[in-house]
Amino acid sequence: ARQDRLRGKRAIVTAGGTQEPIDPVRYLTNRSSGRMGYAVAEALQEAGAETILVSAPTALSPPPGVETIQVSTALKMREAVLDRYAEADIVVMAAAVADYRPAEEAGQKIKKTGANWQLELVPNPDILAELARNKEKRILVGFAAETENLISFAREKIQRKNLDMLVANDVTLPGAGFGSPTNIVSFLFPDGRREDLPQMNKLEVARRLVQEIEALLGLETKE
Ligand code: PMT
Repeated sequence: ARQDRLRGKRAIVTAGGTQEPIDPVRYLTNRSSGRMGYAVAEALQEAGAETILVSAPTALSPPPGVETIQVSTALKMREAVLDRYAEADIVVMAAAVADYRPAEEAGQKIKKTGANWQLELVPNPDILAELARNKEKRILVGFAAETENLISFAREKIQRKNLDMLVANDVTLPGAGFGSPTNIVSFLFPDGRREDLPQMNKLEVARRLVQEIEALLGLETKE
């Protein structure tokens, strides 16, 4: 049965957009709602995997049966994922992790002066790249959000990051990407195989993704 295929497997999923603090009342973030990652966690749990969801702030309720760890920044997300990585068989990075964070977080609210203000940003660690360096037997799935050259940028990412699979979404298409209840994605594999999916709701995308993970694990997927 569908609920049993990933029994005994442990999965980590990330979701949402990280928040990078500027001062006690302000932060930098992006338009991720968390919907895609929450759907992936739900689909993995449904397939029987013991699932941990590492979530940046969202308005969503954690899927039932999924252990959820709430984090805010990219650094905290990295810490939470690395903390559980040793025991994981599957990792799906659906979160929109901020590439940069303010160089420092002001201790007090920054005051308006009327003058221009330059905020210095420093690069955040690339969590997925770090996981890939210690991949061993794990299945690692990345997402790619692009606004141009979707497939060529995604191909470059899958090779450079040493992934088993990449889910590419063109976030400029209506009905795809950030915030939408649906997504339009392509699955890419390191051997060059590519599958373009039609627009479907994020839980359906997630269930298709889980079928691909089962195939990568050499499990029977067709019922
Ligand atoms: O949350 P929703 O509103 O449902 O929207 C879904 C989504 C558009 C956020 C999702 O489908 C998606 O595309 N997520 C990845 C967004 C992203 O940050 O893409 P990227 O191309 O910048 O990053 C590539 C991969 O590296 C991603 O798996 C990302 O999680 C990971 N990454 C990125 C930066 C970083 N510092 N560390 C990372 O691990």
